[in-house]
Amino acid sequence: MGSKAALGRAALRHAASERGASYAAVALLSAALTLLLTSSTPQSTGSHGVASSVRMQHRRLGGGGDAADWMCKHQYAVTTWDRKRVPACDPALCTATPAPLKAPAKGSSAASRRWTPRDDDAYAAASPSVVGWLNDHQVRYVRVMTALQHQLGVFGAAGEIGVHHGKFFAVVAGNAAAAEPLVAIDLFEAQSENYDLSGSGSTANILYPEKLMSLMDATGIPRADVRLVSGNSLTLTASNFTSLGLPAWRMLSVDGGHSLETTLHDVNVAACTVRDGGIVIVDDWFNQEWTGVQEATYHATHALARLVPFMHGHNKIWMTTPSHASAYLDAARREFGCVDVHESRSSIGGSALCLLPE
Ligand SMILES: C[S@@+](CC[C@H](N)C(=O)[O-])C[C@H]1O[C@@H](n2cnc3c(N)ncnc32)[C@H](O)[C@@H]1O
Repeated sequence: MGSKAALGRAALRHAASERGASYAAVALLSAALTLLLTSSTPQSTGSHGVASSVRMQHRRLGGGGDAADWMCKHQYAVTTWDRKRVPACDPALCTATPAPLKAPAKGSSAASRRWTPRDDDAYAAASPSVVGWLNDHQVRYVRVMTALQHQLGVFGAAGEIGVHHGKFFAVVAGNAAAAEPLVAIDLFEAQSENYDLSGSGSTANILYPEKLMSLMDATGIPRADVRLVSGNSLTLTASNFTSLGLPAWRMLSVDGGHSLETTLHDVNVAACTVRDGGIVIVDDWFNQEWTGVQEATYHATHALARLVPFMHGHNKIWMTTPSHASAYLDAARREFGCVDVHESRSSIGGSALCLLPE
């Protein structure tokens, strides 16, 4: 797990580099965030049986009755294979709920999509050479769902935990409205903290922030519009977002560490920082090499009941708040043509789910 000092050093290394003034500015922002980070590092749990026996321990915690205890009431304590533990009950994770962004006037430049059709083409041309994990279907899903959110007046922050070289982040950012803050969260150079080696296929190809920013340049997104947050997502809490003056998420992709521990933490933070009608997309959710992602998603949807899945396919699951789940499910059926299976065969936690076609 990363120490605050290590995070600060990583951010300062960015600032000390000669990558240009705007890049130094975002690095300083990262350093500022580092100082704000509150510690919620998972603790060692002592002995829970022999290391060779993989034992998961789940138990519901009691918790009090007031709003500040919302997270504690619903949180599972999860002991993972290496006996690290997701913070069992950390009210600080969820108390400072970011405010929703007010919808800009319809037709104003603030409400308009960042990418022009020319930028879409530039992304399509650049994308094959960008290291990352994405297919063309996802590009369309983001465009259609973002447009629907904006039509419904749902605006907010857009970004990703685990951006790597920005292959998916660029799509989320390019479809966002001009008024919406863009946030890119990653360990970046601090790969020694990437303990489950998520996305490690290209650690030799480091300088992630510079790769990400080159893609922004190529697709017409000003570097200054992107808030780089350099650090370990396990240290993120909702109050980090409010301290940075960020609104609640309109769209957040969760694609950082893929262990049960990290995914559960990230999805929990997402659940309490997403606005009504916001969308949380979890990557690798059906990837048999990353079973922790699926387990974490079930915990978050069942235990927290704040996020309802409405569609899945092409390795990602899409979730929203209960207020908008049926509208988004209808849109998915209409726009994407779900695979025709009976609802009883395609649901999670009792909510029908669109299985996106191949
Ligand atoms: C699978 S890659 C992300 C791929 C990316 N979304 C794309 O579109 O190509 C995973 C990323 O998560 C980052 N990561 C892993 N663990 C993390 C953690 N605990 N906190 C923040 N980022 C993390 C890695 O540095 C890596 O860049």
